[in-house]
Amino acid sequence: MHFPATGSSGTCPFTGTDKVGALPTREAPHRSVGTTSRSHFGGILPPLIGHRGAAGCAPENTLAALRKAGEIKCRWVEFDVRLTADGQLILLHDERLERTTNGRGKAALLSLATVQRYDAGRRFGTAFRGERVPTLAEAVALLGELGIGANVELKAVRGREAETGAMAAALLCGLWPPQLPAPLISSFSQKALAAVQACAPPIARGILFRAVPRNWRVLAEKFGCATIHVDHCHLHPALVAEIRESGYPLLAYTVNDPGRASTLFGWGVTSVFSDVPHILSAAAESATCLPAAAELNPVGASRQGAVR
Ligand code: G3P
Ligand code: MG
Repeated sequence: MHFPATGSSGTCPFTGTDKVGALPTREAPHRSVGTTSRSHFGGILPPLIGHRGAAGCAPENTLAALRKAGEIKCRWVEFDVRLTADGQLILLHDERLERTTNGRGKAALLSLATVQRYDAGRRFGTAFRGERVPTLAEAVALLGELGIGANVELKAVRGREAETGAMAAALLCGLWPPQLPAPLISSFSQKALAAVQACAPPIARGILFRAVPRNWRVLAEKFGCATIHVDHCHLHPALVAEIRESGYPLLAYTVNDPGRASTLFGWGVTSVFSDVPHILSAAAESATCLPAAAELNPVGASRQGAVR
């Protein structure tokens, strides 16, 4: 299988980033990026990240959701990306079109032109009628206009994981707006993460877990990950402390309740993904007053209920 070169010149610009919004420097060796990125992302990730754009306020994974995220002052968004049959990267969470569009079928078996014939806004609300499933390229261009950073989550059908990772890495290397903070690619798929690592080592990677496995650190090191992403329902204070004390920023999904967000920040979670980030802003502000994770004592802290 042939994978595209990273960027138009075959190189990737995301190397040795040190500042929010700064152009990455090219001097830092690729092998240091994992470590550099860990501290880099710990420093620049905002406490609130719009989930699927801002899925509580506009149809998920659409350009309208990215615009809405900008309106409610999100500094970063997360969205889901997958391949069409003709090898185009689109923003779509599910394998199939039915839940979020008026189309039918599996995106991986349809061409981009077919997918974009369908309405991706009307199911959310009539005000969004006419919204289409966007390409990753369209989304990236809009992020540049809006000045919003992104966590690009790779969703891959079986057998196309490496292709998805390689295509996404190449596209981001070629099109990522230089004025934005460097992107963060995440996935549940270890094959997709491995492809990103192989094709564009400087792009920061985050490993996604539902429940954190015992060997989480081995996996994070294997794929040179900068961040750890976990379903908040599976977090508890000791686990948060273990991850944070290992030097990894910890991102928790999907948190729509302010009380739960405060609890997670209190445990030391770095960022939460939320469909309604504007509702969590008071919780996020209180997070900045909390002690660093290394200072937290998880012993005796009570485990709080999940509120997904
Ligand atoms: O990336 C965090 C979160 O989006 C992972 O779960 O199913 O919402 O893509 P999901
Ligand atoms: Mg996602």
